[in-house]
This record gives sequence, structure tokens and C-alpha cells, in this order.
Amino acid sequence: MQTVTVNASKQYDVLIGSGVRSLLPGKILSLFGKPRVCFVSDDNVAALHLASLEDSLKQAGLDVSNFVFPHGEASKNPVVLFDLLEHLAQNRFSRKDVLVALGGGVTGDLTGLAAALYMRGMHLVQMPTSLLAMVDSSVGGKTAVDLKAGKNLAGVFNQPELVLCDTDYLSTLPPEDFADGMAEVIKYGVIADDALFDLVKSGNVTDQLEPIITRCVTIKRDVVEADEFDTGRRALLNFGHTLAHAIEAESNYAVSHGKAVAIGMCRIVEIAEKNRLCDAPCSAKIKEALTNNGLPTDTAFSNAALFDAVTKDKKCADGSLTLILPHRIGTCYAQSFPIADVRGLLS
Ligand SMILES: NC(=O)c1ccc[n+]([C@@H]2O[C@H](COP(=O)([O-])OP(=O)(O)OC[C@H]3O[C@@H](n4cnc5c(N)ncnc54)[C@H](O)[C@@H]3O)[C@@H](O)[C@H]2O)c1
Repeated sequence: MQTVTVNASKQYDVLIGSGVRSLLPGKILSLFGKPRVCFVSDDNVAALHLASLEDSLKQAGLDVSNFVFPHGEASKNPVVLFDLLEHLAQNRFSRKDVLVALGGGVTGDLTGLAAALYMRGMHLVQMPTSLLAMVDSSVGGKTAVDLKAGKNLAGVFNQPELVLCDTDYLSTLPPEDFADGMAEVIKYGVIADDALFDLVKSGNVTDQLEPIITRCVTIKRDVVEADEFDTGRRALLNFGHTLAHAIEAESNYAVSHGKAVAIGMCRIVEIAEKNRLCDAPCSAKIKEALTNNGLPTDTAFSNAALFDAVTKDKKCADGSLTLILPHRIGTCYAQSFPIADVRGLLS
């Protein structure tokens, strides 16, 4: 088991390894006393993993209940969020109680926001079950739901108090969803760690999951500690994401977040290379790594068509847009462009 400690506005441990779910009852008792616990999970994950985890908490004498919602990005919305808040209120949860997000990034983002809102804040534990949630969304405290106008438009920063990444959960994750997580792993390699990129570029990763997840969480921890509230360096984690959010929105969320990130990284690197914004060519290497990991490298949406969606993104609010561009594999930089110039770059 590996432990990564995050020192942000809250200090918390991220425990990574096979079987770490068994630590949940003891950790809840030691961190929070004897609270009531509400698990939040989507229907896929609940059917596979919720009952055994609930039993382990009941055996420890804890009062346990759950809120289960339909899987998928379409559930990351204000209606499901307020259903969850009403569920907590109707069942008389208090600020001293704990929400446990058991699931992928959709579950984590929704639960993290609910934990911040309910009675102005209750305890939060993240138990990521998708690779994407393990390497990215469960750590760092960004929470949100989507609005009709775009992704993640209603949210807050809310750090969890514990993250348990049990790598055994990945054995039930469908290959398509596993590939989505690999898009974020490859992102970390491109922005911060050429050795990580080399480790995963062949697509043979199954016997290296604990070190890969640990490395990604450590990179994210370092960035979050330097810029928790996303006013500078944290933007580097958005490599590929500006176009990704546009692709997700334009496809009406038929394209998953991970696949949209894969395509977004390819598009932005192509644009960077054409405009001599990279020090060394890296587009071909990134495409090969993505393909080897079962990810797409292009979409039918043209750059021009994505421009409108990009300008709706919250990141354009002040008339400029910060793009994350690689110098080469393993190091990247942020550069701000006026929106009109972005139109030029994209065309
Ligand atoms: N907060 C952040 O910092 C941050 C960072 C990156 C992404 N995100 C968000 O994360 C979301 C994407 O996360 P995701 O890819 O995990 O999506 P997801 O939560 O929808 O999970 C993907 C699918 O995998 C299933 N699943 C999850 N774990 C499983 C398991 N162990 N076994 C079987 N099935 C399992 C889910 O039911 C779902 O169908 C997006 O909404 C994105 O915006 C947030």
C-alpha cells in the first residue's frame, strides 16, 4: 500500500493499493467518532460493490444508508444533486455525519458538492472505483455539476478528509472506462513526467497499476498544494481539457470525458506544432500512446465547430483563454490568448 498525503486547506491521506477498502470502518471511527454514514454510488457500482462495504461498516457498529443514482454524466446535474440533499435532510443527517463517494468521477464530483452544501458542510470520504477517479478526480477538491450551458459550471472547492483507492475495484471496470482513465494518466506523463509516459505508452499497464496511480496522485498533489484554488499553476492539469469539454458538450455527452481528453490533447498539440508553440515534436508520440491504450485521437467535429463551444466554457469569462501546451513530453506551459487569436489558431 502507498500513502500520499495532501496538505491543502485540509490535510488528508490518499491510500492506494489492493484491499484498502477494508480500512474504511477503522478510518471512519478514528477520524469522525461514531457518525452516521451515507454512501453515494451509481447503479453500476452499487450493484457490484456497495453491499459488502455497507456490511463491513455495520459490523463495526456504524449506522449506514445509501443514495444510488443512474450511472453516467447525465446524472451530474442539479436535479440529482438536490435529490441527494433532500435525501440527507429527510433522513435527518447532521453536519457530523459522513458522505462516502463510492464510484467514478461523476459520483465523486456530485458527492463532493453535496458534502459542501449540506448544512454548509459535512464530512467527505472519496472511494474512487474508476481509474479516472483514482488518478484524478478524487484528489484535489474540485467538485461540480454540469449546467445546460456547459460542464462543471456549478461547483465549489471541497477537499475530502480521506481518499481510499482500492485497486481491486478496477477488476470490474469495463475496458472502455479503464481506457478513459488512461487518457488522464497519459496527460500526467505529457505535462510532468516523461518516465511515466514511457511506462504507459505501450498500453501494457495492468501489473503496474499501484505505482502508476501513486505517481499520478503525487503529481496532482504537488500541483494542488502549489495552487489549490486554480489561480495559476493548477491550469496545467487542464492540458487537453478545454477542447475536451467542448467535444463532450457538442456530442451531448455521448463522448466520455476520458475519450474527449484524448482527442483534445491530440488537437491542441497539432495546433501547437503547426504554430511552432512546441520545442520538440510530440504529436505522433502522444497519438501512438493513446492508440495503444484503446483511445481515439480524432473526432468529426471541426476545430471551427468547437470554437463556439469553447467560448461558452467558464475558462473564457474575461475574453481570453489560457491554453496548456507541451514544450516536449514531460514538460508543459500555460499561455493566455485573446479569444480572437484562439479562433485564428483553431482555424
Ligand atoms: N473533480 C475533478 O478534479 C475531475 C477531474 C477529472 C474528471 N472529472 C469528472 O469525472 C467524470 C468522469 O469520471 P469517470 O470516467 O470515472 O466517469 P463515471 O463516474 O461515469 O464512471 C464511468 C463508468 O464506469 C462505471 N464504473 C465506475 N467504477 C466501476 C467499477 N469499479 N466497476 C464497474 N463499473 C464501474 C460507472 O458506473 C460508469 O458507468 C466527469 O464528469 C469529469 O468531469 C473530475
